[in-house]
Amino acid sequence: MTIELVKTLKNDVGIALFLYEGERLERHSFWSFLPKIDQGYLKSLTEKLVIKNRTHVLLLPSGRRAIIIGQVKRNAMSHRKAFLFVRQVVQTAKREGIKNIAIDSEDFEIGHEKWKPENVLEFIAIQAELANFDFTSYKEVPPEGFPRVEKLYVFREKVSANLLAALKRGKVIGEEINKARALSNTPGGDMTPAILAKAAVDSGKESGFTVKILEEPAIRKLGMGGVLGVARGSSEKPRFIVMEYMKGKKKEKPVVLVGKGVTFDTGGLNLKPSNSIYEMHMDMSGGAAVIHTIATLARLKVKKNIVGLVPAVENMPSGSSYHPGDVLKTMSGKTIEVMDTDAEGRVILADGLAYAQKFYDPKLIIDIATLTGAASVALGSRASAIFVTDPKLEGPFRRIAEETGDFVWPLPLWEEYEEEIKGTFGDVANVGKTRYGGAITAAVFLWQFVKGPSTGSFDSAQDKSGQVPKWIHLDIAPRMTTIDGEFLAKGAAGASINLLTRFLSKF
Ligand code: BES
Ligand code: MN
Ligand code: ZN
Repeated sequence: MTIELVKTLKNDVGIALFLYEGERLERHSFWSFLPKIDQGYLKSLTEKLVIKNRTHVLLLPSGRRAIIIGQVKRNAMSHRKAFLFVRQVVQTAKREGIKNIAIDSEDFEIGHEKWKPENVLEFIAIQAELANFDFTSYKEVPPEGFPRVEKLYVFREKVSANLLAALKRGKVIGEEINKARALSNTPGGDMTPAILAKAAVDSGKESGFTVKILEEPAIRKLGMGGVLGVARGSSEKPRFIVMEYMKGKKKEKPVVLVGKGVTFDTGGLNLKPSNSIYEMHMDMSGGAAVIHTIATLARLKVKKNIVGLVPAVENMPSGSSYHPGDVLKTMSGKTIEVMDTDAEGRVILADGLAYAQKFYDPKLIIDIATLTGAASVALGSRASAIFVTDPKLEGPFRRIAEETGDFVWPLPLWEEYEEEIKGTFGDVANVGKTRYGGAITAAVFLWQFVKGPSTGSFDSAQDKSGQVPKWIHLDIAPRMTTIDGEFLAKGAAGASINLLTRFLSKF
């Protein structure tokens, strides 16, 4: 989709407009561009039809198509609603075969939130791209092509370089989120650790960051017993993906992102029930988010030092699978007592967190993972769970989550929960003693590997300074897939890329 900022309305373009409650179409910016015949028709319609609370798709007498959404009171418009409206316009246009559509940015530059025009233009571009995405790689191309909006004209009376840049930025963010969605949607048979690694390499070449892939011998040499343990059951060998984008100040410590890259999660020997396996090809969504957050930052030429780590494995039951009861020695030296082979994400992330500290001196570690069904039990499908070690980070992180639509909600990271995951024969058990608070016990598990070794030896920067890095844990399981009413295609939601991009640009 191309997105253009325009000051006039061309004839062969569909229009989308919002009719706020109690207002007349005549006051809309598009009105003066319409021929008399269309104006007359619309006037007669607004008198006859109840536009309020309805979306109408019209064919105007001049032949122009119009989408009219009449729903909210002007002062009840919010960024949350605006995101949905932009998506609704694009999805409706797509469905109706309207390939070129114009919207008026000033429809959204209102309300009580006082968004800057550049913020509005950025989110219009992002949300439009997201709504225009469909995962069609496995479908026969119909003769007329897949339904897509080809051109989005964003109308604004005053145009500036600043606004053009915002639109471009939004487009890049939207495109990268969609690439992550495509990776996540790719069926498990075609998305192996090796293929995920190749996707990272390709993205690095395209967007300008370096990628190093560690294969099994290197993973073994590093002592990543967690990654090796989970990978054992699969004939697909694990990969450990290392991405670096170091365009910040030389002396500035990097932020390290660690993404869960389970390319398919059957549960292993603790096999998931039949219905629960279906969507588990998306269990590498955290990894995809890390790859495409870095790609976004690189394409936007953000001047920061960012590292991305993705342990990639397939969790399968087989004669060579890791067993419940196995004790795995991780790279940190701490051992994990495997109580449940389906709690595999935290096991591979333990090695990712150790790697982050052994080879980098991060000022902040953020891990992103479709980690627990329990996070969805707690929050439903509208927010990811976050856990932070530094209360000062929580406010800004939540505010940016709110601004980007990657909604998050905090859960506690209290040391009292550590009792739940004490191992009997290993240092840490990979599940809690009860099923209650499963999102929290998973987070507290990971926390043990951020805090670093209490046993074993490894020469991390943390050992030298005695400092524990700041850490944010994002459990995106609740936002793994889109939900009805979001005006997004079924499948992967691409959660957290928009949030991380904006947060890291500022942090
Ligand atoms: N990948 C799953 C979590 C998940 C489930 C994400 C559904 C998205 C949708 C994870 O590996 C898992 O299986 N977690 C278990 C943990 C349990 C065994 C302690 C769960 O949530 O049931
Ligand atoms: Mn699992
Ligand atoms: Zn999993």
